[in-house]
Amino acid sequence: MSTTSPVTPPDIVEHPKMTVIGTGYLGATHAICMAILGFDVLGVDVDQRKIDALAAGDVPFFEPGLPEQLRIALDSGRLHFTTSFDEAAEFGDVHFVCVGTPQAPGSDAADLRYVESAFTELAQRITRKALLIGKSTVPIGTAARLTELVAQVSPLGDELELAWNPEFLREGFAVEDTLHPDRLVFGVSSPWAHRQLIQAFRPIIDEGTPLVVTDLPTSELVKVAANSFLATKISFINAMAEVCEATGADVNLLATALSHDSRIGGRFLKPGLGFGGGCLPKDIRAFAYRAEQLGVGQAVAFLHEVDDINIRRRVKTVELIREMVGGDLQGKRIAALGAAFKPNSDDVRDAPALDVARMLYMEGAIVTVYDPEANENAHRAYPDLTYADTMVAAVTDADAVALLTEWQEFVTVDADELGRLVRHRRIVDGRHALDADAYTSAGWDYRALGRPVAAKTVALASDSRDDVFA
Ligand code: UGA
Repeated sequence: MSTTSPVTPPDIVEHPKMTVIGTGYLGATHAICMAILGFDVLGVDVDQRKIDALAAGDVPFFEPGLPEQLRIALDSGRLHFTTSFDEAAEFGDVHFVCVGTPQAPGSDAADLRYVESAFTELAQRITRKALLIGKSTVPIGTAARLTELVAQVSPLGDELELAWNPEFLREGFAVEDTLHPDRLVFGVSSPWAHRQLIQAFRPIIDEGTPLVVTDLPTSELVKVAANSFLATKISFINAMAEVCEATGADVNLLATALSHDSRIGGRFLKPGLGFGGGCLPKDIRAFAYRAEQLGVGQAVAFLHEVDDINIRRRVKTVELIREMVGGDLQGKRIAALGAAFKPNSDDVRDAPALDVARMLYMEGAIVTVYDPEANENAHRAYPDLTYADTMVAAVTDADAVALLTEWQEFVTVDADELGRLVRHRRIVDGRHALDADAYTSAGWDYRALGRPVAAKTVALASDSRDDVFA
């Protein structure tokens, strides 16, 4: 009996079996969520340890809510893991490629070796009609090139089709963003691929999620354009912070006033230490690099400035701390609160917080780092820094405290209680996350980038989502 309904063309699999190649941040989340949505899913990775951990119910990174979803998915019997590409090729009607595209060593370009390898490994083995779907963030033109590569190495030739489905999930909100994305983008080169993708996302589409169907290059561009826009918005307000520093204006008040204009909005307008992580920094660099290759470098030349503004905030934070402790960091005890690139994550890739801690250390400060979740990853990246197991241990006897990642634990601590632990009540709020009035009233010397010394606390206007700046 056919598994297709009368309205579904016979060559479309109505309830496709899925593989997810690459079980890092994106892949693990995607595999787990697709199983939650009712699909049979096989997660594939070349790293046996990751596969063993996931199969045993352990998520190998910190992401709120994901371990619970993994447990439900495993218990449903719909989610399995393997290191075998043979098994994957045999199993899947659709194959999602979710491997990393890090910044290439010594270059701004994206390193595509994992993507190429994943498509090649699959294409060589697949012997029945199936759809290969790239989810990794790639330079424009990659999908077209991979289409040729797949046709060359596949026993099916150009019968084995490729589509692109960029991912917009944010760390810390990965489950929510995957199960209920604000939009879906399908980059396709045939009506068949379009229809097959619809079946693969049926539960999400049925929720009324907006769907934009494009050609392959547009789908690749959507992703890098979105991340470039977000990075630009952050750097815009941080550029304004630089102007505020030169004029005595207050960037927090400025951002609040701007955020009430619904055309501008308050999200991603939070000034401070700027953006980091495994996506925004490397994506804007790879985009600028690719645009130069395409002869349109000038069109996105501003992204270099976006990057520079962002890096300057880290340097300025160090300057502020140096100034606060009397002009010389040598031998000064600095408590660095936060290491992750943002709260609710243990990711320290290109983390502004860790970069500041490193620069303070290079100037001779005695830096003690504490992050609720990222200490281990931070220690691996910078073993020379000292790490504390608690916030109390980190701040005890500090000459100055630097709030570098706005974890709830740091934001809600009582200013006076914190003050009893330190040697000097001096704090640099690198994320504009603290109640400036409460700190000032408790006798702290409170400083934040782009704000005059006696700054007032204000809240930015938000738009539809509650996570205003996330
Ligand atoms: C980002 C995008 O937001 C996702 O849509 C995208 O899918 C993802 O990259 C990706 O390409 O995979 P993520 O890296 O998780 O997500 O982090 P964001 O929430 O975008 O934050 C990035 C950085 O900007 C953080 O360091 C954060 O502290 C900083 N930020 C954010 C600000 O400095 N100010 C703000 O107002 C907002």
